[in-house]
Amino acid sequence: MTNLVRFEQRENVGIITLDNPPVNALAAELRITLLSALGEAMNNPAVSAVVITGDGSCFSAGADIREFGQAPHPDAPTLRQVIEKIEDCPKPIIAAIAGVAVGGGFELTLGCHYRIATKSARLGLPEVQLGLIPGAGGTQRLPRLIGAEPALRIVLSGDHLDSEQALALGILDEIAGSDLTVCAIVFSQKIIGKDLRLRRLRDREPDPPDQAVFERSRKNIQRWARGLIAPHLCIDSVENALKLSFNEGMRVERSLFERCRDSEQSRAQRHVFFAERRARKVSVEPYTNVDKAAVIGAGTMGTGIAMNFANAGIPVSIVEVSQAALDNGLEAIRKNYASSVSKGRISQDTVDARMHVITGTLECHDIADADIVIEAVFEEMELKKQVFKTLDRVCKREAILATNTSTLDVNEIAAATSRPGNVVGMHFFSPANVMKLLENVRGNHTSEETIATVMQLSKRLNKVGVLVGVCDGFVGNRMLYAYTRQASFLLEEGASPQQVDKVIYDFGFPMGPFAVGDLAGLDVGWRIRQRRATTRPKDERYSPIADRICEMGRFGQKTGAGWYRYEAGSRTPIPDPAIDKLIRAVSVELRIKRRAIENSEILERCLYPLINEGAKVLDEGIATRPGDIDVVWVNGYGFPIYRGGPMYYADQIGPKRIYETMSSLYDIHGELLKPAPLLARLAKSGERFQDVLDRHCDVDH
Ligand code: 3HC
Ligand code: NAI
Repeated sequence: MTNLVRFEQRENVGIITLDNPPVNALAAELRITLLSALGEAMNNPAVSAVVITGDGSCFSAGADIREFGQAPHPDAPTLRQVIEKIEDCPKPIIAAIAGVAVGGGFELTLGCHYRIATKSARLGLPEVQLGLIPGAGGTQRLPRLIGAEPALRIVLSGDHLDSEQALALGILDEIAGSDLTVCAIVFSQKIIGKDLRLRRLRDREPDPPDQAVFERSRKNIQRWARGLIAPHLCIDSVENALKLSFNEGMRVERSLFERCRDSEQSRAQRHVFFAERRARKVSVEPYTNVDKAAVIGAGTMGTGIAMNFANAGIPVSIVEVSQAALDNGLEAIRKNYASSVSKGRISQDTVDARMHVITGTLECHDIADADIVIEAVFEEMELKKQVFKTLDRVCKREAILATNTSTLDVNEIAAATSRPGNVVGMHFFSPANVMKLLENVRGNHTSEETIATVMQLSKRLNKVGVLVGVCDGFVGNRMLYAYTRQASFLLEEGASPQQVDKVIYDFGFPMGPFAVGDLAGLDVGWRIRQRRATTRPKDERYSPIADRICEMGRFGQKTGAGWYRYEAGSRTPIPDPAIDKLIRAVSVELRIKRRAIENSEILERCLYPLINEGAKVLDEGIATRPGDIDVVWVNGYGFPIYRGGPMYYADQIGPKRIYETMSSLYDIHGELLKPAPLLARLAKSGERFQDVLDRHCDVDH
């Protein structure tokens, strides 16, 4: 037996321990040895019950995702066969769960006759997040155990349940004390000799089919599952559990699973899964543990950032300039939490605990012992420098000083301190307590330890951290500008905002660029453009439309009008003839002959420059890997996850084709569409972004 599974006997109980670090993925070798361990236990007359458990902090994260797309191991049973064998065993089998039991790991426990778990265990079926449906009986056994509606909730959300929730639903038989193995042995003694027939989920009668449940689910997923295949098939498969025999339901589940597994969508989603994990890897140890944090500024961003710390249980102090601003900020936090309570997302007790760790002050000296300080004051260089000088003076020597600037030079801010090695950018996205993305910006002098600390902290804050370099807009906003700029040029050439927005929406973004502008507020970008006006090359093409709209006092939804108009109290964009008139006037003024523009041209004009800018960002070392850019765009800008992010998407189309299109666009429209050198090199070599850059980036940051 390989060491992926251990077998030992304690009293009359056989203990099978999955031991495949780091997450006990159910790889081929493990399945082979698990089956033989089961055989050993069944053949041993001294063993009356079997406990299956996981080594380390995890029961099992399910199927080994890296095996998907590989040729199957010739001698390995499938996970379904292993689970079937477990369920068939004549001796009782108990799953003893510590840590996570998810995906195929959870499905394995559903084949066991009993399930017990520690208090901190988590269970779930996250397959849908990988573009899959549960494929080892999850959609057939879970509805038989807890009913169709809760099963659908688990399968469709992919969320983890904690032990209390799992116990309440009837998934767990017991919550175990601190020594899981001892509890499992004691539990075994209670159930040895009991009739196992009722414990085999495949033999349980499912609920009678209730069409309304499935109709409701299909309706509920319409919005978020737009464009995705897997969620729809999840519902179909759970419905089958109620309509078909167990064996027939399993057969269909398998074919739906395989359809998903082999789809472009799941491949793209698996790419994002691994890219997120690669993005967070750093080669050195964090040098300080963050036990206390501080945030400077209680505005839109500062309050959201402070909530992240409180949510992670890290005490955080907010510094403001006036009592009124501080009170407003704290009130905004309270209201935000109250809204979550009213929607049933968190309990009042949880909110009380979180509010308890948030404090406010007007005195910088009060945060002298913070391990990290995140500055979120107005976007003004002189103000930021002054704040950093003060922080440098009052904060302890080891403290990390981070800025949330979205446009200013982190190096210049760092130079205002005597510890540039401890200065870093932490670019949160708005709303900061919701958005998953965190661009951690390394300055020229930021130390490796500082980077390691903020990358580790990102994970604790439940963010997807990506390390980026200093440049205007970092990775995300710099690429965004390359794309929205073309969207505006398309208006001058003949498109309408609604046409462009529809093309981008149909591609899979939640909104097109103009609808997003109205949502975010057009004045923000206007101020930035005004500041940059003096440094913009005079011969560079520039669309004045957005500025004109702002000059009309139309700042988007908050003023009831922007690129679109809005009825009072509504967020539905309504095309506005006044904007059409303005756009046409600009075309005349710029002597651009308007023409009918094909949707396919709009898509290429928007996405290819975005990819082209991504190629520059990579070449300049602002992003380390193409996958890092994908992670930024999927988590921060709504790039459809089932297309894997812009650089993955580019690899599917082929860099050569993008290069050729960019070259012809460059011939027509000039400098701003010049193909990036890296794109040209890939076109020549016939390679993909992934091939070239992964070769160089196997070393960690
Ligand atoms: N297969 C292969 N590798 C996996 C894996 C899996 N199922 N789950 C995690 N890993 C790897 C990660 O890539 C990472 O590798 P690295 O160290 O080389 O980067 C390592 O395990 C640790 O993972 P995390 O960094 O994510 O560790 P965390 O402690 O933060 O999270 C976790 C642990 C919650 C288990 C998280 O890894 C996770 O959600 N994993 C995926 C779970 C999942 O989606 N399971 C379904 C698989 S599909 C399936 O089971 C099909 C079945 O229905 C037939
Ligand atoms: P805001 O205007 O909502 O809040 C700024 C707060 O800082 C105000 O409450 C102000 O009283 C306070 N402040 C000013 N000087 C201070 C000082 N010396 N000490 C303590 N507090 C002080 O601004 P917002 O939107 O929260 O932005 C803050 C920073 O975050 C800016 O650098 C901005 O570029 C960046 N950012 C903003 C995003 C957004 O969508 N709003 C997104 C990402 C980054």
